[in-house]
Amino acid sequence: MKNKNVFYKGWLIMFCSTGLLGTGASYAQMVTIPVETAKTAIILQVASNKDLNTIYLGKKLNNPDEYGNVPGVYKQAGDYTGMYNSAYTPAGSRNLLEPAIAVTHADGNNSLDLKYVNHTTTRVSDDISLLSVQLKDPVYDFQVTLYYKSYYNEDVIEQWSVIEHHEKGSVTLQKYASANIDLNAGSYWLRQYHGDWAKEMRPEETELSHGIKTLDSKLGTRADLFMPSVFMVSLDHPATEDEGSVLFGSLEWSGNFKTDLEIDPQDNLRIISGINNYASPYPLAAGQAFETPPFVYTFSAEGKGKASRNLQSWARNYKLVDGKGSRMTLLNNWESTYFDFNETRLSELLKDTKKLGVDLFLLDDGWFGNSYPRNDDHAGLGDWQENRKKLPNGIAAIAREAQSDGVKFGIWIEPEMVSPKSDLYVKHPDWVVKQPKREEYYFRNQLVLDLSNTQVQDFVYQIVDSLFIKDPALAYIKWDCNAVIYNAYSVHLHQNQSQFYVEYVRGLYKVLQRIRTKYPNVPMMLCSGGGARVDYGALQYFTEFWPSDNTDPLERIFMQWEYSYFFPAIASANHVTDWGKQPLKFRVDVAIMGKLGFDIVIDKLSGNDLKFCQDAIAIYNANKPVIWQGDQYRLSDPRTESVASLMYVSADRSSAVMLNYLVNYRYGEGSKRPIRLKGLDAAKKYTISEINLYPGSTSPINGTHSPINSTKVYSGDFLMTVGFNPEISAGRTSVVLQVKTL
Ligand code: DGJ
Repeated sequence: MKNKNVFYKGWLIMFCSTGLLGTGASYAQMVTIPVETAKTAIILQVASNKDLNTIYLGKKLNNPDEYGNVPGVYKQAGDYTGMYNSAYTPAGSRNLLEPAIAVTHADGNNSLDLKYVNHTTTRVSDDISLLSVQLKDPVYDFQVTLYYKSYYNEDVIEQWSVIEHHEKGSVTLQKYASANIDLNAGSYWLRQYHGDWAKEMRPEETELSHGIKTLDSKLGTRADLFMPSVFMVSLDHPATEDEGSVLFGSLEWSGNFKTDLEIDPQDNLRIISGINNYASPYPLAAGQAFETPPFVYTFSAEGKGKASRNLQSWARNYKLVDGKGSRMTLLNNWESTYFDFNETRLSELLKDTKKLGVDLFLLDDGWFGNSYPRNDDHAGLGDWQENRKKLPNGIAAIAREAQSDGVKFGIWIEPEMVSPKSDLYVKHPDWVVKQPKREEYYFRNQLVLDLSNTQVQDFVYQIVDSLFIKDPALAYIKWDCNAVIYNAYSVHLHQNQSQFYVEYVRGLYKVLQRIRTKYPNVPMMLCSGGGARVDYGALQYFTEFWPSDNTDPLERIFMQWEYSYFFPAIASANHVTDWGKQPLKFRVDVAIMGKLGFDIVIDKLSGNDLKFCQDAIAIYNANKPVIWQGDQYRLSDPRTESVASLMYVSADRSSAVMLNYLVNYRYGEGSKRPIRLKGLDAAKKYTISEINLYPGSTSPINGTHSPINSTKVYSGDFLMTVGFNPEISAGRTSVVLQVKTL
């Protein structure tokens, strides 16, 4: 009893000192800073002790005055520290939980406190607002500015911080998160992703328990190989496609990241995300600003589908290069030739490109290196001169031939890398990331170049620039990255090795920015031995990404499904290859769930296969605006149903494409019931016809008027309430439907 009294007294004192309750200050009197989008609100509040806290993140309330009631109902008030819900938790003062920021001051002191100074909201456009909140340590000349960039229509927020000080000497940033957000619910359900080469984007969904769950990468490059930074957290129960509250988040950074999800002692969830501080305490000189990368997130109270459409439209509108523009279909030679080709073979492939009807021929790995020719993956990276045996007349000649064949030409590079067997390695060993006194250790027989070094940045930039000098009409670049960083060490950084992982990514972005300044619109595919570098930090410089080297269409249905929660179809490069056992039609039908390409031997196709591909490309060209720019709705989940089904709907809801695939090959499986469509206009009348039919086949959907003359009319209401059966079965494993208003 005695102990209880002591505790109770302490509790009251703490209430008063934190100012969260019991100070007499009402909600209206406290500085309250709302960040609002169409459907979401984040409410920051300055306590009477000047701490900045998050009192609400969720669905916007009808009456803004009621946000003040949130702390009371959620036990936010009166924790031991008064800062469990800090908007940016500083370490070393009162904090007892995972911090967002930890520093060692110039005098060696490890404590930090951050107090509100002021805030400004700038209206960037009709859609975008930028809030900045300045926080300062009362004892040290150390400050942090928090940024909240809100995209009203998309319901998306980007959060980052800028850290600065004017202490006498250098301050070491031990931890420097981008965002520290706070959610309140009865339970929290995390959907996270893991993978490896050819196994990208495998989801796991679990209820979070108390303590910290960490999602992270320490790979340096190819950072997403084992785990991408994308995740979702549902509140109270796992959100479904159309129901439940869920937050999708991701760090816009192509290197090591760390996201901690911690349920605090009051059962609130704190999510702290940023660059991984692993091996990276960062020395910050006085007057220098350290800007963290943005953490992007969206909150939906209408399930996962809405959250994904939020991110997809944000990416198209603001992040991807040319997100509202077009893309080129292509024929790639990687799987048809690997390293084994010459001018004659490439001439044939250019003709095949034309015959197939795609826009561009993409020349993959193996075209360079002379002292150490790139005839397999053991040599040549770094020596970006045409191999004289394979291409005696250079790239310019191939490019000219492409032009006269009426197709565009694109090329593969992997400019961040070096093969130990290369002239570059011999000439510039100091440019290579490796430990000076340790044995070299390789990933795909290669090493990484030190992009923290400006000379290396210039070299990488010039690789790209020289390609445009050789072929000013160069229409496409595939930028690959096949190795992780082992033995992290930079000759260039001397004593500052702990800056390496951060400076590598900054160096990469500087190069990409220079390329984009000179070549703003050239399409570039972000590839990393598959999908090991798919993040919005990199994607701001690219038009598309390569989800995986695994192009087995059955596997791709699952992968593309999960990627689509975070990235729009226009960014997903999907190629038809010889992976998998499914018929060509199935492979093509899966690849159209994004940006279509081919990597097959065209002259080995049967007459019907070739005709099917040619027709499918023409049909795709007619429908790609809806797939690329339309709203995506997931109708039937491959993880729980035998049929995967999804659709893309145009903004005016006048046309849609519905894709249906059999994913369970057991006896008698198929679409046994109608599948409910979504996103249509209930009042509009639609016809449905099956497209992408294999030559000679008829469709039970199109009736006797096959191929396309379906006369039956359905209301949007009917299709969304009762649904439509695509008639998927073992004999019809993929069905593409076109839905159109009369
Ligand atoms: C890995 C990529 O993912 C492949 O598509 C191909 O470009 C190879 N690299 C080439 O080495």
